[in-house]
Amino acid sequence: MRVFDQKKELTRFLSAHKGKNGSIGLVPTMGALHRGHLSLVKKALEQNELVVVSIFVNPTQFDKKDDLQKYPRTFNEDLALLKSVSENIVVFAPSEEEIYDGEVKSESYQFDGLDVVMEGKYREGHFDGVGTIVGLLLSTVAPDKAYFGEKDFQQLQIIRKMVQLKNLPYQIVPCPIEREPHGLAMSSRNERLSEAARNEAGFINKTLQTAKSKFGIESAIYISEWVKSQFDKNELLELEYFEICDEETLTPISKRQTNKKYRAFIAVYAEGVRLIDNLRLN
Ligand code: PAF
Repeated sequence: MRVFDQKKELTRFLSAHKGKNGSIGLVPTMGALHRGHLSLVKKALEQNELVVVSIFVNPTQFDKKDDLQKYPRTFNEDLALLKSVSENIVVFAPSEEEIYDGEVKSESYQFDGLDVVMEGKYREGHFDGVGTIVGLLLSTVAPDKAYFGEKDFQQLQIIRKMVQLKNLPYQIVPCPIEREPHGLAMSSRNERLSEAARNEAGFINKTLQTAKSKFGIESAIYISEWVKSQFDKNELLELEYFEICDEETLTPISKRQTNKKYRAFIAVYAEGVRLIDNLRLN
């Protein structure tokens, strides 16, 4: 397994591979790898000859300094995990200066309104940071396909939109959410939870599942109020938002239309750790 921290050396290595008509898959990550990341890596390995996994904790997508500092960093374990999966993986782990060419700041984006709701509303500048780093990684690696998990569904839709608006030649491949035994969506942030909170956080997915069973019977307003009341009764989990949105536009549902797909989105705090999840409703 090769590990690069310089763009120039990585691109030299990748051009030799592309010269032999080898396809490349890119799995962007911020490290602290878990089963969710590995499912993306495995899918990428099935569909490409070579897979680049980037490991970079991107400072420009964090709206809180504290959250950036506490983000888990487990580089050596990440390398060992990837090595156990395949030798056909190339790791790209640049420094901030290297990937940002010395100027660590976000570009400003417009994503047709996808960025102003939910995560965009509660985490100022988050999607400008995501758009900037994903744009830099895509242009450095120039993969055939890039893989993103549906746990960050809003991020996935925004990256699809960026690729479409900029007419970029990369295929964006969505990958389903992996879950812990109690139903909690896998996330690097779960590492920061106590065992009690980690078990209790299964309640998030359980509530989404019940919301799904109510969808089509009760109104969206009723369901939202019901979800809120469930979290009001929970002492460990604090609800930040629950929204039912059109999957394409991410606009909150007003009147249900039969030809549209809807998804429930949720953000919850447990022991100061922010957890997000979502579930297709129809
Ligand atoms: O989903 C993530 O881990 C990050 O937002 C990403 C896509 C790697 C960009 O930093």
